[in-house]
Amino acid sequence: DDADPATGALAGQHVVITAGPTREAIDPVRYLSNHSSGKMGFALACAARDQGARVTLISGPVALATPEGVTRVDVVSAVEMLEAVNASLAECDIFIGCAAVADYRLAEVAEHKLKKVSGSPGLTLSLVENPDIIAAVTHRQSPPFTVGFAAETRELARHAHDKLVRKRLDLIVANDVAAPGLGFGADDNAAVLYYLDPDQPDNPATSHTLSPRAKQDLARAIIDYMLPLYRGHQI
Ligand code: CTP
Ligand code: CA
Repeated sequence: DDADPATGALAGQHVVITAGPTREAIDPVRYLSNHSSGKMGFALACAARDQGARVTLISGPVALATPEGVTRVDVVSAVEMLEAVNASLAECDIFIGCAAVADYRLAEVAEHKLKKVSGSPGLTLSLVENPDIIAAVTHRQSPPFTVGFAAETRELARHAHDKLVRKRLDLIVANDVAAPGLGFGADDNAAVLYYLDPDQPDNPATSHTLSPRAKQDLARAIIDYMLPLYRGHQI
């Protein structure tokens, strides 16, 4: 812990992390978003920094202070987050996609505040799919070592494995967000980590369970678990 930047396990490595929610504007005063607090991504930034990494933290709107020694880039929407990620990838060794990216944005953002129409049958918003940021990273020519997250309310293992393969991730951190007191907005979290072990081609995925603990402690444990996999990936 608190390794010297020159001698830590991630010394000389550039780690890019996305964190927090994205906000998708409806009109000048309203947006679509989710309950992500950014705490997990910010904790990961601290944990990577403490291992000596140079850290770029690309964050959606959150109420958190910038960790010392970390370069923070603030964004609002998913499209802006993708642009910031693309701009940071030139020298990126490890990418960690912790942001809760909105899956959809408004097909058209209203220029003026939408007016309520009393007695109308309701309001229908037309949405279009946002770009998949982490998939854009892994589908580049020489992608960095990439860690994804999956927040699920059911069938954790199946969904995590599906995302690991479909998004070409090196490691996925799956959270059961239905567990009381854990996950979104909470200070504590638990996780199950999955990766494909090339030495065990018959095994669908190797898993490792991290019991509930403070997000800072969980972040340190995730980075510790990632280190030997990252070293194996570099060879
Ligand atoms: N992710 C991303 N860009 C998106 C959506 C997701 O980079 N537009 C990343 C998240 O940061 C996370 C991983 O993909 O690391 C999994 O996110 P998740 O929302 O669980 O995956 P989706 O493919 O959007 O699937 P779902 O239908 O379960 O929302
Ligand atoms: Ca999603």
